[in-house]
Amino acid sequence: MQVIKTNIATNDIESEYSKFTSIEHRKKFAQFFTPFPIADLMAKWLIGNKALKTILEPAFGLGVFSRALLNYNENLKIKGFEIDQNIFGKAKNLFEENENISINLQDYMYNDWDNKYDGIICNPPYFKFHDYDNKNILKEIEVRIGCKLNGFTNLYTLFLLKSIYQLNKNGRAAYIIPSEFLNSDYGKLVKSYLIKSKTLRHIIVFNFKENVFDDALTTASILLCANDNKSSKVQFSNVGNLNDFANIESIIENYPNYLTEEQTVEFENLNPEIKWRTYYQEQNALKYKHLVPFANYGKVVRGIATGANDYFTFSPSKAKEFGIAKKYLLPCICKAIDSKKSFFTKKDFQELQTNNKSVFLLNALNPDENVKTYLAIGEEQEVNKKFLTASRNPWYSIENRPPSPIWVSVFNRNGLRFIRNEANISNLTTFHCIYLNMFSAPKTDLLFAYLLTDVSRQIFDDNRREYGNGLQKFEPNDINKSKMLDLEHLDTNTEIKILEYYKLYRQSVLDKKPNESFVNKINGIFIEHYT
Ligand SMILES: C[S@@+](CC[C@H](N)C(=O)[O-])C[C@H]1O[C@@H](n2cnc3c(N)ncnc32)[C@H](O)[C@@H]1O
Repeated sequence: MQVIKTNIATNDIESEYSKFTSIEHRKKFAQFFTPFPIADLMAKWLIGNKALKTILEPAFGLGVFSRALLNYNENLKIKGFEIDQNIFGKAKNLFEENENISINLQDYMYNDWDNKYDGIICNPPYFKFHDYDNKNILKEIEVRIGCKLNGFTNLYTLFLLKSIYQLNKNGRAAYIIPSEFLNSDYGKLVKSYLIKSKTLRHIIVFNFKENVFDDALTTASILLCANDNKSSKVQFSNVGNLNDFANIESIIENYPNYLTEEQTVEFENLNPEIKWRTYYQEQNALKYKHLVPFANYGKVVRGIATGANDYFTFSPSKAKEFGIAKKYLLPCICKAIDSKKSFFTKKDFQELQTNNKSVFLLNALNPDENVKTYLAIGEEQEVNKKFLTASRNPWYSIENRPPSPIWVSVFNRNGLRFIRNEANISNLTTFHCIYLNMFSAPKTDLLFAYLLTDVSRQIFDDNRREYGNGLQKFEPNDINKSKMLDLEHLDTNTEIKILEYYKLYRQSVLDKKPNESFVNKINGIFIEHYT
């Protein structure tokens, strides 16, 4: 029996749905659809289980995986879960002629725990953790699976863990999920469970230039799991474009044999504590010698979090309007866009004030009458009841973070961006602060010269997190745990040479004619001395 009349082996159905559904609605339910060729590839993994009869599709959407599976075997018995009434109605219509498919309008995480399946296939919802009631779900997972996770764990990994728990003997699972958890702290416990379950077989990481999913700010990976005791290792593969799919198909066809031993790691050698990027990406740091931990030089700490930037930040005119005296205003860089160059000078700060930018932070300790009035406005607007302010005493106190000599930007497209804070002002969370220890502080310029180079960026890159679309993020600890070249290794003459180029570069930036050739020269010196 054929399922539906529309062309099922394409994404026409999803495109039609997206055309008539608002992006807000799609975002609310995390409705980013799997491209059909990917769904088909994942379906092939399930089809490889010769005993395949029962299928679970936990985040059904418009059933792209069911369509791909039914193309191979129309007798499969499929159960789907979907939480959104709207898309559920459309999916019901689509599959109404197929008695083998039942779709349930229910939350997958709270239902169906006692059933097991021969095949589970899914593109789970991806939310930022606080968009979802994680606490109750974590409890459910702990009771059912006996796996304790932390509150930052993302819902998509919880779907994955539940599905692995629901695999029949010889059952197979194919999941497409953001690769973020492979390289993040909350992923450690998830990775531990995956290793313990002994079901993980392949991790296929997408290095596509474009996003796999339209609009979704995330990078993708496919996890192939099998509950069959036929392998004791995981293979990591990278795919750069659709042509690489042929290779993944061969990998799937040859299971349980591996085409090559490349990038395979025995379960017992997989370390859940480290970023798994080590297993699938050549580490830049390996190209250099004389590396030391970044922590030898200093410490990265996130910038000041106010909990309500609009309220706490002041431009000169806003300060005037509320009569806030200078002594209550802490000079502070509030937006990344206000500091686009590698050097932020006193003159730059002056210019921002002249242009009436928000460059002050309210420091309301021992408030005078005007500040008290402004605080009363804050209470009226319930600024004092926000997540961060409510946990402070008094609610308007600000974190004690002295200005740091170097800032580093948090989100980037082209690796890390460092800024020398010559104005000696504070910063909000748009930058992290870099504090140097007493040994490296006298060498701030030399260190900063190093931070400007591609060599330093490449090495830091080993520790980045990715958010798709080429956007990268570094948490303070990603940098703290990074390696860097040991600057102690430089002789005095080389140091002097670097500092000369550094001064020339600085001057060119201040003159608004940045001359990158000076940084390239510094870069060349590091390559010469450390490779
Ligand atoms: C990322 S989409 C994937 C849809 C489809 N499987 C695909 O790959 O094209 C996730 C789907 O899961 C649904 N969903 C979100 N939370 C859910 C939950 N807790 N239980 C079941 N379905 C959920 C969303 O409404 C959405 O349709």
